[in-house]
Amino acid sequence: MSFLEAVFDCNLSSLLIVFCVVLVTVRYINSPKNLPPGGPWGFPIIGIAPRLGKEAYRTFASWAKDYGSIFTIRIAGLNVVVLNDFEVAKEAFIKNANVCSDRPALPDLKNGFSISGSLVFENGPVWKERRRWALTAFRNFGVGKRSLENRINEEARYMCNEIEKKANTSSTFDPCHFINNAVSNIICSISFGQRYEYSDAEFKVLLESLSKVFGTIGQVSLSNCFPFLWNTRYRSKERKLIATVRNFIVEIVDKHKSTFNPEDIRDMIDHYIAEIIRQKLDRKEVVFDSGVIWRGVQDLFQAGTETATTTTMWMLLYLLNYPEVYQKAQNEIEEILGRDQTPSWSDRDKLPYVNAMIMEVQRHATVAHSNVPRCTTSEVKIKGYTIPANTRFILNSWAVHRDPKFWENPEEFNPMRHLEEDGKTIKQNEAFIPFGIGDRICIGQLLAKMEIYLLTINLLQRFTFKVPESQSPPSLNDVTVGIIRMPKPYAMTVEKK
Ligand code: HEM
Repeated sequence: MSFLEAVFDCNLSSLLIVFCVVLVTVRYINSPKNLPPGGPWGFPIIGIAPRLGKEAYRTFASWAKDYGSIFTIRIAGLNVVVLNDFEVAKEAFIKNANVCSDRPALPDLKNGFSISGSLVFENGPVWKERRRWALTAFRNFGVGKRSLENRINEEARYMCNEIEKKANTSSTFDPCHFINNAVSNIICSISFGQRYEYSDAEFKVLLESLSKVFGTIGQVSLSNCFPFLWNTRYRSKERKLIATVRNFIVEIVDKHKSTFNPEDIRDMIDHYIAEIIRQKLDRKEVVFDSGVIWRGVQDLFQAGTETATTTTMWMLLYLLNYPEVYQKAQNEIEEILGRDQTPSWSDRDKLPYVNAMIMEVQRHATVAHSNVPRCTTSEVKIKGYTIPANTRFILNSWAVHRDPKFWENPEEFNPMRHLEEDGKTIKQNEAFIPFGIGDRICIGQLLAKMEIYLLTINLLQRFTFKVPESQSPPSLNDVTVGIIRMPKPYAMTVEKK
């Protein structure tokens, strides 16, 4: 049948053929030339999305074997460039940082969290100014300093007191709530000078909402392909979860506004209000807006709580699965600190194995499996390919952490790989990127490292965690994958030392 016959014959299959021919031709004419090689074929309109599977980072890693370390996929009518090894990631995010450091306005994130007032999803000079301000505010509120260390150790004691109630019984427990409450109390105390009891039912609902948001909102979803779906029943659960978090923060910000005293800056929210007043007086461009203070706090709360909690949960899970690693870490703590000496961030060099173990958990579990999306602001050449402006990137950090060029036997869980031959000095490996790379690297990494290190030592000093009797260790492969990679809930028994 000729093309014209098909048009005039007008039965369904002929129309379909015509439609496909037109679609392929238009796409060919419009497609940018010299893009990185195309990944496997996708479906019309939604593209490759249905072929990615639950763990897209694994799918990308297997496609990289056929298409190379940089390839292009189509999602929802857009070209997305997937970076699968450290060299291409470095070329994009470090060498070409000036044009590869924007965040794309993904529909789920735009509709769900809103970009106005955000640091994580803002771009350009406003993002730079907010980032600079947040880093200074972190320093002012003790990140990296003894004052915050004391606060974290204090919170760790509250957490351990709660866990102790579960100790020395045969019944099992899931430590997630206790760790989550501790980590978020640390952010809460920096952001709004408050901590919440572990029995606080309202706060528990808030933390559960946050966790579900992170478990369900990922990069690939129908509502990212068809943004109107965000306001339908398809995303009603997520809308409610996000509203719970937002309402909680808005209420706290409102209280701060009504009790603000410029002579007594209590926490980051006060600092934020003071900055807005200063900018107005200086008649500078206002990059902080009173109406969206809550959004900045929400960023820290969201970015900081679930990531550090999940890393600590992975750590306990790996220890249950690798008793010899557990024993070695325990021995180092016993030898250097004993059971009673409070751990200190400034003494961390004395516990190299514990540090290496935490790093290996971060590498092997790769919580931020696909980094946080980026996009180009103008055309850029990477590995000889031409990537046009406004093209999205996915950095497959999970694959970077398993690249045999940088990691010997990458599948093996082995903390010793992070130590020099002397067994005491931490080995630097540039392909270790749990906090991302380049200009957008995580601003909370020092805080997160302090939290994970101090909470871990407090836990191991006070307790022995065990796999429930006559059971196998909980699986390392049972995961929930959203923005981050979380272990499925698991249970253990605990003995007080
Ligand atoms: C183990 C815990 C954490 C992990 C694994 C983690 C990971 C990441 C990653 C991968 C990025 C994206 C970097 C990039 O685009 O290259 C990021 C960005 C960010 N993180 Fe973290 N993070 C953690 C803890 C925290 C904490 C505790 C805070 C603050 C309280 C925080 C605040 C942020 C912010 C504000 C950004 C956005 C930076 C920007 O866009 O300029 N993170 N984080």
